[in-house]
Order: sequence, then C-alpha cells, then structure tokens
Amino acid sequence: MRKLLLVIILFSFQQLFGQLKPADSIRLENLMKQMTLEEKIGQMNMYTGNIFGDDPVFTADFKYEDLKNGRVGAVLNVNGIKNTKYLQELALQSRLKIPLLFGNDVLHGLHLLFPIPLAEAASWDIGLMEKTARIAAIESSARGNNWFFQPMVDITHDPRWGRVMEGAGEDPYLGSLIAAARVRGYQGNGIGDTTSVMATAKHFAAYGAAIGGRDYNTVDMSNQELWNVYLPPFKAAAEAGASSFMNSFNTLNGVPTTASSYLQRDILKGEWGFRGFVVSDWGSVGDMIAHGYVKDAEGAALAAVTAGCDMDMEDQIYKKYLPKLVAEGKVSMDIIDDAVRRILTKKFELGLFDDPFKFISQERWEKAINNPGHIETARQMGRESIVLLKNEIPEGKTQPVLPLSKNIKTIALIGPHIMSVRENLGFWSPWWPDDSTRIITQYQGIKSKVSANTRLLYAKGCEVSDTSTAGFAEAVRIAKQADVVIMSMGEQFDMSGESRSRSDITFPGVQEALIKAIYATGTPIVMLVNAGRPLVFNWAADHVPAILYTWWLGTTAGGAIADVLFGDYNPSGKLPITFPRSVGQVPIFYNHLSTGKPPKNDSIAYYRTGYIDLMQNPKFAFGHGLSYTTFEYGDFRMSDSTMKTDGSIRVSLSVTNTGKVAGEETVQLYLRDKVGSIARPVKELKDFKKVILKPGEKKRVEFVITPDKLTFYNEQGKQVLEPGEFDVMIGSASDDIRLKGSFLLNDEL
Ligand code: NOJ
Repeated sequence: MRKLLLVIILFSFQQLFGQLKPADSIRLENLMKQMTLEEKIGQMNMYTGNIFGDDPVFTADFKYEDLKNGRVGAVLNVNGIKNTKYLQELALQSRLKIPLLFGNDVLHGLHLLFPIPLAEAASWDIGLMEKTARIAAIESSARGNNWFFQPMVDITHDPRWGRVMEGAGEDPYLGSLIAAARVRGYQGNGIGDTTSVMATAKHFAAYGAAIGGRDYNTVDMSNQELWNVYLPPFKAAAEAGASSFMNSFNTLNGVPTTASSYLQRDILKGEWGFRGFVVSDWGSVGDMIAHGYVKDAEGAALAAVTAGCDMDMEDQIYKKYLPKLVAEGKVSMDIIDDAVRRILTKKFELGLFDDPFKFISQERWEKAINNPGHIETARQMGRESIVLLKNEIPEGKTQPVLPLSKNIKTIALIGPHIMSVRENLGFWSPWWPDDSTRIITQYQGIKSKVSANTRLLYAKGCEVSDTSTAGFAEAVRIAKQADVVIMSMGEQFDMSGESRSRSDITFPGVQEALIKAIYATGTPIVMLVNAGRPLVFNWAADHVPAILYTWWLGTTAGGAIADVLFGDYNPSGKLPITFPRSVGQVPIFYNHLSTGKPPKNDSIAYYRTGYIDLMQNPKFAFGHGLSYTTFEYGDFRMSDSTMKTDGSIRVSLSVTNTGKVAGEETVQLYLRDKVGSIARPVKELKDFKKVILKPGEKKRVEFVITPDKLTFYNEQGKQVLEPGEFDVMIGSASDDIRLKGSFLLNDEL
C-alpha cells in the first residue's frame, strides 16, 4: 500500500514538474524540506556578471557573499570557463550546495556567429535553423552556459523597432515553426544531455507591438490580435518543451506583463500546462514603479510573484521584499514553493546536482570551435539567408547583372561595408573578439572567387552615417574603370538591436548620394544591403539593377555573399517581413484584415483604405525573393471542393524550372476564410514547401489542408473552427499568387 502511495505521489510530481526521474523527485522534495525561506527566495534571484570583463566577475562584493550563502539561483552574463567554474565553486560552498544556472543571450551563436535570427528566418529552412541552434548549444554548453535567453519569438509589424533583428519577422505560422525548431535545437535530446541548454521563449508577450516601434513602449491590442498573431509562436515554443519563458518590458492593455496573471498563470501555466519557470526581463519587476502600476519595490515584488513571475533578473527586489511579504501573509508559501520547485526541477533535469561542472569542458569547447562542419553550416545558413530582391538586365545588355562571372576584368568594390569585420556579426555578438580572425570580410570573400586576372579596385566612398562626401570622387573614378560595381551599403551593426529603434529607416548618412553618383557613371551596379531590419531605399530599388539583401550574416558572411554573387549558390531566400515604401506605411504586413473599403494595391487611395500620396502595396512583399532561374507553376488540382470539419483536402500543383540553372523555390500556400464571426485576414500563410529543381525539371508539390489550418481564436481567446468558404492561393510570394481555388467547409454536405 505504502509503495502504491509513493508511486502515485511520484507520478503526480512528474505530471506537475516535468520529466524528473523518480529518484530526483525524491531528492527535490527532500531539498525543499531542508530549505529556509531565505534559501528558497535565493533560488528566485538572478545576478549579472561583468559581461565584457574577466575580473572581477561581479562588480559588487555582496554578490559573492550572496552566492556563498545560498541567496542566488542563477547568474547571467558570465563569460568563459574560468569565471563560470569560479562562481559555481562559490555556490557549492553554500549550506545546501545548490548549483547555479548560467544564462546568456546567445542569440545567434557564441563564438561562431550565424546570421542574425531575422536573416535566418529568410531562409525558410526550418531544419537548418534547428541545426544552427544545435551548434550554438554545443559550443556554449562547453563554455559554462546551461541556459539561453532565446528563442526570441516576438512577432512584429514594425521595422522601426530595433529588436526586429532578433525574431522571425511578421508571420505567426512561419514564426511558430521557427520558434519550435530553435527550442529543439537548443535543447537537443533533452536538457539532461551535456550539449543541451535550456531554451527561453521571450518576451512574453506582445513586446513586438510596441507603439510607434519605440522599444519598451506600451502595447494596446485586442484579444483576437493577441491570440491569432502574437501568441502562436509562444505556444509552439511551449509545446516544443521550452524550459523557461521570459516576460517583457511592455504593458499589455495597461498591465505590465510581469504582473500579468492572465498571461503567466492563466494562459502559460494554466491553459498551456507549462512546467518550466518564468524569469523576469532585466529589471522588469522594478520597472513597474515607473509604469505607475505599483507605488514601490515591495508592491512590485508582490505583483510580480503573485502573477507567476518565478525569478527576478538583477533587480534584487525579490531578495529584499519577499521575506517580509511572506511573513505578513501577503504572499503564500505555496506561491514561493511552486516557483522554487519549477526552478529546482530544471536544475535536476539538467543534471547539475550530479555534476555541477558538466557544462564546463575545455576539451569539448576546443573540439566544437574547431569543427569544420560547424563553419560550413554557418556559411550554408548565410547563403540561404540572402534574398535576391531584384535582378534586371541593364540597358544595352542581354543578361541580368547576376550572377557575376569569375573572369570579369575589373570589379570596383565600393561602400562602407566592403572591408567591415565586426559589422558582419550584427547585434548580440558580445564575444566577437574571440573570433575576429575567422571573420570573412566581403572583400576577402570576393577575392577568393575571382580569377587571377580579375582586377579588384576598392574605395570606401563614405562612412555609414557621417556627412562627408570627400570619398565620392575616388569611388566614382574606380567605378568608371570597372566592368561592374559591387556596392555594400546599409546600417551599422548596432543600429538595430535592443534599444536601437529608428524613426528613419533609410540609408544613414550620405550613402544614397553615393549610390546616385556611382549610378551616374553608367557602370552596372550590384548592391548589397547590410542591415538588421527592412530598410527603405526607394531610389536605389528603382534604379540599381541587382540588389541582394544580405542582412548580417555572421562569421562567414563574406564567403556566403561571394557564393551567391558568383553563382556558386543560387539565391533562395524569401522575405519573412514586409518592406515598406515609406515609414509612413508602417505598420504594414501582408496578413491584415479586410476593411470595408479595401484599397487597390497599386493605386492612390480615394475613398479606399490607404494614403493619397502613396501606392498602397509595399516595396517588397512578405515571401518575395528571386532566383537566378525562373519557376513556372501549373496543373493545379484539389482533391475535393468540400471538406468536413474532421476531414482534409489535398492540393497539388507542378513546379517547373524554366531557366538555365538549378534552383530552389519555396512554394507558399495561403488561405483566406471568406466569412467569419470576426473579420479574417485577406490571406494567411498556412504551409510551404521547398523544391530543388534542375533546369527543365518538373516536380509535383502537394499540401494537405487539415482542420487545424482553418481554426482561429475569437475575441475570448477560444479556438474555433467555423464552416464556410475558404480561398486557396498558391504563390511564389504573398503578392505573387500563381494558382487559386476554393472549397467549402461543411459537415452537412
Ligand atoms: C534585456 C533583454 O530585453 C532580454 O532580451 C535579455 O535576455 C536580457 N536583457 C538579458 O540580457
């Protein structure tokens, strides 16, 4: 009988707190019994280290003391094996010897830098994104990290928002697939594995909808928008087993998310059954005073912990005020115990109680960073992230500008990014000096491709953002001597990222003037745009014949760009976010609701939704991306014209490579729910398939439309499936629909 009882108890612990082995469940409960209130609150406290420095690891002495006395559960921003080991040893001097978690923002790699997350999203290659996430985990887990503060899964419609570079763009379907892939990549075979780190889905929630794209700003949104657009990637991350969630800096409908029981308790831990823990964002507990939501730090601690925020990042507010709040009966021991169990469960799952140093290994680290396969994967990801926006035949010529021949006589390389080193890595790459010698500049990448007889001329022309045109003359001079010009333009790496919102998203400085000066020489131009967000560059987009959007591609950037420039890789990227014609169009996104007076895309709007001084469509649409070949879509078939609510419909088509080189096309399936109990988007991406085709080759592509692709969330946040007519659209981009059909969802037919 006692045995049976034990089994039942263990079973329910496992149900509640994850996949702990029975023996660890018992160890956890024993530990909980021994812990004082102060030690429990210690687990809910996280300190930052000195991210760039080696010594001291902490800049404040009391932090060392707190570590030794069991008053810290986790630290962030600790760099390297030596420092991690040192801090873990201090934590193990505490009475109960509870090991620390080490968290870091390894947004797109630690030592080996991959393309920024938004760039990776442009590859639409879910498997490859999982692989780069895996490699980042393999490297980092040898260097002390056991916890990543990503994936960042915030949807955004606003390229002014600097943090657009951290996410997967604007689409909830694509964003959900990517969120889950990154969680799988970081957590590998499960967080007990030595090369796995805990994933954090952030920033919960709706942070990307900051009004005006101003970072940390207020968010005000309807429930249907929250559920249909902003929450799906978080749900996908939770379902993929993300170990933690981070809340966000914004208020949502007036309530700071750190204090939102609706988000953290009702949705995440309630409806979604999330078993991990929630960490605050940096200082977001204390920020609630400035929000005017609580009057002081004590009120902030009470509001945050009550709402389900389990760990306090850097603020020390839990440490200071929770003991008093518990003593006064304002916070129950159940709330504290629940938070601590969630945190300790993850420490047990990670295996830290068996080996607190398991994520520290010089040998594994060296093996990881010297792995040629990892570097090749980074370059592959770089190639796939590049989007060919435009490739026209220049006046007087017969072929498009790209791909370039490796035997061109003279190439002029112009622009502030041709020789850039650090810039290629983009934001969130603080450990870059570790890897500076491996970074392939664009100049080096190009140089390594061209024949020995090709002459490369170089002139910077201008800086990214100053006002001097002193370098123009030299740039014009070399452009005149060249057969083709490659211009590398864009932002500085730190113009996008946290707290890097811009009101003007055109090329900074005098870059556009430089492009005009070079264009006037008549030499054909290929333009590379390096940026962490969609930029507005209408003049160049209208005049320059060939444009590659290269984002920030990481350590191997120059190699990947050269692979595409010279046709060793045929570009296949597709935009994961809409590129506006002007900042005035923002927010602009493809999956908007239909209005009562829908605009005509390519005209001025009179008595229609839109502007009288601008075309209504974007400059480059979601899903857009060209290839060096062309694809023809045809032979559209649907298995039925009606579907039952538990049925499915097969939609198929043929794609033919009608050009002269092999290429990869991403065939996109969009649906439109014609009439709903609430207005529904004009189209929504619901599936896509990547097909590789040799010249002349034809392949069939099939999609299966299942009921889950037709559901949506109503204003109550309830998922519903409503019978009615659906349009089916198959395209090469959201604005390039090639095939259409429709069907009726109805059980009575
Ligand atoms: C603040 C950022 O919002 C968050 O994304 C990051 O993980 C933390 N700082 C820690 O660096």
